[in-house]
Amino acid sequence: MIENDGYFNICKESDLVENKGKRFIFNDIEIAVFKYNNKIYALNNFCPHQLSSVLYKGFIEDGFITCPLHGWQFNLADGFIKGGKNGVKSYDVKIENGNVFINITEKKYSW
Ligand code: FES
Repeated sequence: MIENDGYFNICKESDLVENKGKRFIFNDIEIAVFKYNNKIYALNNFCPHQLSSVLYKGFIEDGFITCPLHGWQFNLADGFIKGGKNGVKSYDVKIENGNVFINITEKKYSW
């Protein structure tokens, strides 16, 4: 359910594992949620290289998620591809009482 401010509760913080991604589907949008350095990040799960829904399975290093198929890397904080001007959509995240809320109404970036 979307709250008044555009955020919806996607999971509990305790459902996420450090340095791992998890896939969620909300309103037909696939969202990859990551926990890295005790912060939560949310990106669209589709890698723009071949539009594969695999980013949640990627490898996290130095704040970037590496696509498991061909190695494209995206900044967890803003979705931008490493060294480039394009990327994947990123979504604002907030934590309240151990619950993870994601705002999909305001898309900060589009490929
Ligand atoms: S599908 Fe992600 S790098 Fe090719």
